[in-house]
Amino acid sequence: MLVVDDEDDIRELLDMTLSRMGLDADCAANVAEARLLLSENTYQLCLTDMRLPDGDGLELVRFIGEQCRDLPVAVITAHGSMENAVSALKAGAFDYVPKPVSLEQLRALVKSVLNLPRQDVAQNEAASGALLGESQAIRQARAMIEKVARSQAPVYIGGESGSGKELAARLIHGQGARRDQAFIPVNCGAIPENLMESEFFGYKKGAFTGADADRGGFFQAAHGGTLFLDEVADLPLTMQVKLLRAIQEKRVRKVGAATEDPVDVRIISATHQNLKELVAAGRFRQDLFYRLDVIELKMPSLRECREDIPLLAESILARLALDSALPMPRLTAGALKALGEYPFPGNVRELENILERTLALSGGTEVSADDLHLASLVASGEDASSASSGGEASLQDHLDRVEKQAIMEALQKTRFNRTAAAKLLGVTFRSLRYRMERLGLNE
Ligand SMILES: Nc1ncnc2c1ncn2[C@@H]1O[C@H](COP(=O)(O)OP(=O)(O)OP(=O)(O)O)[C@@H](O)[C@H]1O
Ligand SMILES: [Mg+2]
Repeated sequence: MLVVDDEDDIRELLDMTLSRMGLDADCAANVAEARLLLSENTYQLCLTDMRLPDGDGLELVRFIGEQCRDLPVAVITAHGSMENAVSALKAGAFDYVPKPVSLEQLRALVKSVLNLPRQDVAQNEAASGALLGESQAIRQARAMIEKVARSQAPVYIGGESGSGKELAARLIHGQGARRDQAFIPVNCGAIPENLMESEFFGYKKGAFTGADADRGGFFQAAHGGTLFLDEVADLPLTMQVKLLRAIQEKRVRKVGAATEDPVDVRIISATHQNLKELVAAGRFRQDLFYRLDVIELKMPSLRECREDIPLLAESILARLALDSALPMPRLTAGALKALGEYPFPGNVRELENILERTLALSGGTEVSADDLHLASLVASGEDASSASSGGEASLQDHLDRVEKQAIMEALQKTRFNRTAAAKLLGVTFRSLRYRMERLGLNE
């Protein structure tokens, strides 16, 4: 370990604490000394103060990022100085620890650093992992995922519906120091507002009628691991305030509890909406956005990586065939061409849905462009002759009408509670949301 701090007593204290954990530390009093030690030794962790006599901690973070890429560096920040913490994370710091450094936090930090998978191992896992594609846009996303997996910084993932935001979040968790702990995905749009606080933070026995025992919430479940706030734009403003507080303080208070408990979670958030616009419109708190959007990852739409469509289609089809114990049909050149020209408003998820339907309906060994039933979806009217037979288009229209009606009925029965409606229809919440979007039922 390398400890960089200009105050003798703090250096000694950190040194002592680390050695009590059985770890050796070298100490430097300024940036120059730190650079020298870094050029002579290899370390597992660098812990640096923010303000140093001959420069600042950020400089060291950047230097390490360039010169010793595998070395995680954590920054000690003045209490309450969120700005420093955020800029350190943006500059590539592994994590930050507020002053005064508590033993508990230092332990957690060291533990997660030692838990980082070796870079080559993580990369192997990523290579065999699920984010397929060789286009520039996907390569960039993959590289970013690998990089941010090796830090504790909050990540905000943007991108259209079905573009792989949740997949990216799982990969970040799965390649990082927290991979052996829980990954808790939370659909912020699916929780009734009056239950939100207790769902997120848990409750004490007797907090309300029916609370017959203490219970943890999402934060407690994600302790040591990652909390994935999906559709974070759907959080009501009152909950945004509470969430901000929990993230800032790294503490949560159960409903009905007198005291707060410390929690250690990494926050990854995502939405298909434009969060910046929502901030500008006053529908999402600026201060919360600032804390969530420390590192931004944008998942490309499938239209931005058209060249990946054949590869994606083949591997998704192979997986689907395997899952349903069917022989894998071959996609004809015509089918690949049709897929290559299709706009995919629902991105990879839509491609999956199209192939699933195709596989279920086609008994053959070959899938042609017609078997995909894309015609009626492709900008209707753009080329009337390409909707080869009127019969197909009207079949799709008919299916859409039936689907629409079933969804509307379920929604009415459940008073427009989408989670309950999905249950009633026997589909997942996401599948229902996707279908509603496709059918234009969202308004
Ligand atoms: N590059 C990719 N390679 C392989 N599978 C992918 C890729 N991108 C997305 N998928 C798959 O597409 C589906 C949709 O991805 P995911 O659920 O992560 O999207 P999302 O962006 O979270 O969508 P939504 O905004 O609707 O929640 C998943 O089954 C995922 O595994
Ligand atoms: Mg999602």
